[in-house]
Amino acid sequence: MTQSITIRRPDDWHLHLRDGDMLRAVLPHSARDFARAIIMPNLVPPVVTGAQAAAYRERIMAALPEGADFTPLMTLYLTEDTDPDDVARAHAEGLIHAVKLYPAGATTNSASGVSNFDKVAPVLDRMAEIGLPLCTHGEVTDSEIDIFDREAVFIDRVLDPIRRAHPNLRVIMEHITTADAADYVRSADSGLAATITTHHLVINRNHILAGGIRPHYYCLPVAKRETHRLALRVAATSGDARFFLGTDSAPHTDGAKLQPCGCAGCFTAPNTLSILAQVFEDDGALDNLEAFTSLNGPAFYGLPPNETRITMRREAPQHPSSIDTPDGPVTVFDPGFDLHWTS
Ligand code: NCD
Ligand code: ZN
Repeated sequence: MTQSITIRRPDDWHLHLRDGDMLRAVLPHSARDFARAIIMPNLVPPVVTGAQAAAYRERIMAALPEGADFTPLMTLYLTEDTDPDDVARAHAEGLIHAVKLYPAGATTNSASGVSNFDKVAPVLDRMAEIGLPLCTHGEVTDSEIDIFDREAVFIDRVLDPIRRAHPNLRVIMEHITTADAADYVRSADSGLAATITTHHLVINRNHILAGGIRPHYYCLPVAKRETHRLALRVAATSGDARFFLGTDSAPHTDGAKLQPCGCAGCFTAPNTLSILAQVFEDDGALDNLEAFTSLNGPAFYGLPPNETRITMRREAPQHPSSIDTPDGPVTVFDPGFDLHWTS
């Protein structure tokens, strides 16, 4: 039986670090295991301009524990007023690595997102020209569309038209949750990829709703039925270069989650690698773990893979079930099975 796994140091291609006290509390958990992360811009107010991204980057660097080796890869939050010149400048400076599209109202802090996609066409044209990728929160927000169908409908109504209008735009469908999305990504030869979270490889919608409601499993896009989870497992463990890890680790205090109208998001930064090693081992795919966590992402983003390695040992890890923050405790995602890989 394999006793240790050595892989290039992983990166997280979709991460919420928040700001202030929460940033200081959660950042060490990502910086321990990950060399780089694509930092989501959905702060309040959102990170919309290059100047705001530079300031946020400074705050992240200042919050890093001493000796940590972690590089935040900044993104801009796309609005209908985003200035293509500002985007191009921030990209040329090496500050930003993607622009994030949130359909208005789709998820936490997305009120300034896009409603009229024609208005952002000039920015998308410029991004295609300079090779800056678009990250998408792939859900429509129309209230008449069932929440479990919102990702599939987004592909037809929003994503496919954008890709046809901007054929050279590189696009990442983030945190995919359906077989439809995995198939759509496979239908493209180049310029399209997807991130998959740790929790969507583990839970389906029964975990949220059957036998009592479990707010800590509620995130957006919401987990779908079991057939979709299995399709995501196949995509993630296949080694296919179009799929890579974006944890979407999204901390909210228990007070914000355990509400009549609780926040969406699973906090997976502390135990993601232990869970993933087990998922890949259970699926007989440990040889493809490194592709998913450490190779496919940098290749799509045009960055070199990390040169340093991490070794995971077969040993029960000591992950906290929650972490304390000045704002209150944040519950760590519980995969529902015992873990036996320590990073
Ligand atoms: C994220 C958050 O809390 O910022 N929540 C989530 O459920 N994933 C936003 C997001 O990525 O949708
Ligand atoms: Zn997210």
